[in-house]
Amino acid sequence: MTALETRQKFLEFFKKQGHTIIPSASLIPEDKTVLFITAGMQPLVPYLMGKKHPQGARLVDAQKCLRTDDILEVGDNRHLTFFEMIGNWSLGDYFKKESIAWSFELLTSKEWFGIDPQKIYVTVFEGDATLGAPQDDESIQCWKEAFATAGMDASVENGRIAMYPKKKNWWELPGEGPCGPDTEIFYDTGKAHDTVFGDTCHVNCDCGRYVEIWNNVFMEYEKKEDGSGGYAYAPLAHKNVDTGMGLERIAMVLQGKETVFEIDIFSAIIASFENKDTPYTQEARRYRIIADHLRAAVFLISEGILPSNAERGYILRNLVRRAITHAKILKLPDDFYCAPIEIIYRYYKEQYLHVPIEYIITAFAAEYSLFDKAFERGMKKFYTLVESALKTTKIIQGSDAFNLQQTDGFRLELMMDLATDAGITIDEKGFWEEYKKHQEVSRAGAEKKFGGHGMTLQTGELKAADDIELATVTRLHTATHLLQAALREVLGDHVRQRGSDITAERLRFDFIHTQKMTDEEKKRVEDIVNHHITEALPVTNKEMAIDDAEKSGALMFNKEKYGNTVQVYSIGNKENTVSHELCGGPHVVNTKEIGKFRIIKEEASSAGVRRIRATIK
Ligand code: SER
Repeated sequence: MTALETRQKFLEFFKKQGHTIIPSASLIPEDKTVLFITAGMQPLVPYLMGKKHPQGARLVDAQKCLRTDDILEVGDNRHLTFFEMIGNWSLGDYFKKESIAWSFELLTSKEWFGIDPQKIYVTVFEGDATLGAPQDDESIQCWKEAFATAGMDASVENGRIAMYPKKKNWWELPGEGPCGPDTEIFYDTGKAHDTVFGDTCHVNCDCGRYVEIWNNVFMEYEKKEDGSGGYAYAPLAHKNVDTGMGLERIAMVLQGKETVFEIDIFSAIIASFENKDTPYTQEARRYRIIADHLRAAVFLISEGILPSNAERGYILRNLVRRAITHAKILKLPDDFYCAPIEIIYRYYKEQYLHVPIEYIITAFAAEYSLFDKAFERGMKKFYTLVESALKTTKIIQGSDAFNLQQTDGFRLELMMDLATDAGITIDEKGFWEEYKKHQEVSRAGAEKKFGGHGMTLQTGELKAADDIELATVTRLHTATHLLQAALREVLGDHVRQRGSDITAERLRFDFIHTQKMTDEEKKRVEDIVNHHITEALPVTNKEMAIDDAEKSGALMFNKEKYGNTVQVYSIGNKENTVSHELCGGPHVVNTKEIGKFRIIKEEASSAGVRRIRATIK
């Protein structure tokens, strides 16, 4: 069953149950508060809140979505930027019983998806006192009945139904809106548990054995500002069902593939530009990135977005340039993008694409030639460095490589590949030292005024700085790690560092998040950080191979920017690790050295990025 047929079957199944098929909304949200639609429910919020939908109370759709938070993870087995979310909707009509029964039927019936029910596991909300929402017993009962139709005895006790707290089984968007408990459906791939994720595998484990294929949200609550900076949850008069299934993931399961990049559409895209000298089997990650980014770019261009340096255009530019960079490394021809774009266009035209293919190709070609100019300049400079390296140590100095990236946007990743061909190496460690200096010290210094004389602290002069100030920078640096961990706890795992800047007076931290933080959220973040400070937790570091660091769950904000060996700083102990992050240091030895942490300001930095300034006392 192709992905296209899978989408069609899903729509048909729900049509049979009285749903109206509605078209996907644009990738660009109408209210413009966020850059892109990231979930199928976003365009339907007014209707989930009670507004009457012209097409009725039962709807089904496939919605275009784009998530760039995970862009650096694209290349593994399941992450994508653009994807289709297929879902069925009850707007105050049916509820848990029908929703769960239909999900089970569609997934397992031979007439439909025909998945072996033994491979299906589900999770249910265990209740939360602060939300005032009880354990979802009704869903447990519905699942028991559903599995019984396949002659299976499903229960919490035998592990077929697993209970999880709010963090896993509650769905809401930031800010006010409809929300509620969810029940998630997982497919057991049968793979062995990867012990990097702990001793025991479970349905929500990150080891990859269980793949989440469907999320049924029961929107029976409304989240509202409570007037004192927090939120209150009240039952909704109008109870809804919002389900979301990643089309590419279900296609992966139905096509018996181990990665989303092996499903019909992606294998066709990849085959269309594969270079037999640098084949997919050896260079899977690069091919996947190119395929994903080309597909996302086609959708963005067909929505009228063009590459630029701001907002949506910037995201598109980044996607296109990353694809081109990997194409160059794979030695693909200049017009490498034409064949895959044609395949993408043919596959999605009928459902989604409403501009002529020439328009898309022209937009892509224009960006290619713009990028190519800078690229040619970078190449010339790079080969000058190669020549001198060949005459001496056969190593390009980290600082030279860093300068080239800074001035010509010639990415380290590309330099490393070219260096291997030329028989030299690049001092990656030096590169990152330079990078760090640039990020943390020199920028911190550049803003720091000495004793009111307006003198600027330059890189390298740090030693001359007062020891106390250096210690403050170090303390703020450790506080930054605690801050990121607290933000992720309070706002969600999508939070990720986008930039960090520390002076002797304050830290500044930019991170991915679209909504303004409420006073209550800020307070909770401060409290969590201060709590970890008073817990007097040890700060330790360990050198690790980058892949091991990644497996251990260490946060890294730009994987491709690190070398093969990295340092990972952990805060806490075995039982209570509060932060685990790639970093070059320096850090304090114990969190108690930090002092009292306070947020001074929280504001927008750029589209989808928030900025916090904080101090310590
Ligand atoms: N809103 C839920 C999600 O995005 C289900 O559609 O996962």
